[in-house]
Amino acid sequence: GMGNKKREINAPLIVVSNRLPFVLGKNADGDLVRKQSAGGLVTAVAPVVVECNGTWIGWSGSFDLKPNDPIPESDPEDKAPTAGLKSSQIIPVHLDKSEIEEFYNGCCNGTFWPLFHSMPDRANFVSRDWKTYCKVNDKFADCTLAALRDAIKKLDAAGDYHTAPLVWIHDYQLLTTATKIRQVCEAENLRCKLGFFLHIPFPSWDIMRLLPWDDQILQGMLAYDFTAFHIEDYCLNFIDCCCRRLGCRVDRTNMLVELAGRTIQVKALPIGIPFDRFVQLSEKAPAFLNMSDDVKVILGVDRLDYTKGLVHRILAFEKFLDKYPEHREKVVLLQISVPSRTDVKEYKQLKDETELLIGRINGRFSMPNWSPIRYIYGCLSQEQLAALYRDCAVALVTPLRDGMNLVAKEFVACQIRTPGVLILSPFAGAGGTMHEALLVNPYELDEMANVLHRALRMPLDERELRMTQLRHREQLLDVNYWMTSFFSSMGALGDDAGDGNAD
Ligand code: F6P
Repeated sequence: GMGNKKREINAPLIVVSNRLPFVLGKNADGDLVRKQSAGGLVTAVAPVVVECNGTWIGWSGSFDLKPNDPIPESDPEDKAPTAGLKSSQIIPVHLDKSEIEEFYNGCCNGTFWPLFHSMPDRANFVSRDWKTYCKVNDKFADCTLAALRDAIKKLDAAGDYHTAPLVWIHDYQLLTTATKIRQVCEAENLRCKLGFFLHIPFPSWDIMRLLPWDDQILQGMLAYDFTAFHIEDYCLNFIDCCCRRLGCRVDRTNMLVELAGRTIQVKALPIGIPFDRFVQLSEKAPAFLNMSDDVKVILGVDRLDYTKGLVHRILAFEKFLDKYPEHREKVVLLQISVPSRTDVKEYKQLKDETELLIGRINGRFSMPNWSPIRYIYGCLSQEQLAALYRDCAVALVTPLRDGMNLVAKEFVACQIRTPGVLILSPFAGAGGTMHEALLVNPYELDEMANVLHRALRMPLDERELRMTQLRHREQLLDVNYWMTSFFSSMGALGDDAGDGNAD
């Protein structure tokens, strides 16, 4: 992609996210080892942190790592993008079971997740969970401040009293972390540049105002120098909330928000994927599907999350089989559901509901040698996914609401053979840019059935034309481009700190 041109970051880098870029777990011998955590963000950001000897702060994902335990080094055989991260570059944040219950399961995934996805009926408001959220965010802030003091000490020792370390904080689990960081920096006169990226949608004022702690959240998000979202809609929602809740002076055209004499720049930076990596994976991945040639596969890949619209999708598929019976025994819906947040009630219920529904539909339509739905509840390897993306005829990406959705992008990257069709929800961030997909409202089940029929009958030349455009755009606007744009917007690139265009 365009971001492949290497440019150095001109300051020490500290990345902060809820999860570390790898998961710690015990191996067969009972030793704590690093386990790969897939994800475009990790693949892109980890090499940059390695290159500039930066620091990554986050929760280890394990209760087995106790304070003062060393982080295991990576296995010498490890080829993951995080393999080059030395343990000295990792600062684990230790969270105990009740913190995970109240902060992660409770506030992050029981309150903010549904609310930010504009599903307020699913949100719980529990003040104990919110208190723990603030406490945990302050813990992240303390760890960040320690790393910051360290970085400044090193700069000072080298006679550099000017460069401000760059702190890059990620996502809705850390909305109030910057409040304390800024307070302490101002009190102790520590120099730093603070940037934030939200990986999920930002809701409208009508939704945001339901949150009893909306003012503290907004103030937390304004403690940065720079705050970025996937798309312009989310930026404008945020700016509107700042204006209406906090009375900030705002400039919607230039996306500026003023609070207490400070001006915060807001920007839309749509995330991309490591496109070339997915192409390579799909070039070498052995076939994972062994369907006979006259059966077409419709593929769904999602974390098992109620925002992904799985129930709507399956009901639409049933409508499709009713309405267009000529496709029976000719198509299979292959749904991969990746286990996620399994301690949260809503997620447990969704698992049961999905399984019941699939059982009913398979019972209704199955023949001795054919079932309409194949269902996998589990985690596939990147290579297996690449093979499925490559070999399916249609990808169904129909979330009810989604910050961006990377599955849509990974699918087109892997479509290196006979092109298939992408069916995409306009309520995913990706729906705003992937114009050559077939867009369909996931709430309109009849329309979804029609679009599926259209996709399966689409002539080869039309599929080719659409897929070529889709792939071209994602190759250009890949995850490196996104990251470079972020650093550039923060004025953190060595040469030519430009306007966010990597070229
Ligand atoms: O992009 C949203 C996000 O919540 C990330 O922050 C997170 O790492 C990912 O989805 C998976 O969720 P979780 O970390 O809760 O397993």
